[in-house]
Amino acid sequence: MTAFSLTCDTNSLRRPDYCKILVCVGPRCDAEGKGRALFDALSAALPRAFPDDARRGRLSCASRDCLRLCTREPIVRFEPSGEILSNPEVDALLRLTAEMLAVES
Ligand code: FES
Repeated sequence: MTAFSLTCDTNSLRRPDYCKILVCVGPRCDAEGKGRALFDALSAALPRAFPDDARRGRLSCASRDCLRLCTREPIVRFEPSGEILSNPEVDALLRLTAEMLAVES
């Protein structure tokens, strides 16, 4: 049997140049209206907090019917990173968005 190993220098990987935030407004996440309320609040806050990134298309927010991660709280997924949060505050999402957008170009 031949053994081999793979190495990867993560600093050499191309960093994503966009951030898309998916907010679930499906039947479980929005059972109490919290999914839709979070989506509305985040959709309003993002272009105010990151106007240049929103205008340049580096940042977007969209709703989804179900992200297949149902709990009883709203689920949010960041793309392309894959970060998933349950019942996050808008301020926490803005802080995470700032980290996601802090890429070298
Ligand atoms: S209803 Fe939101 S993850 Fe399924």
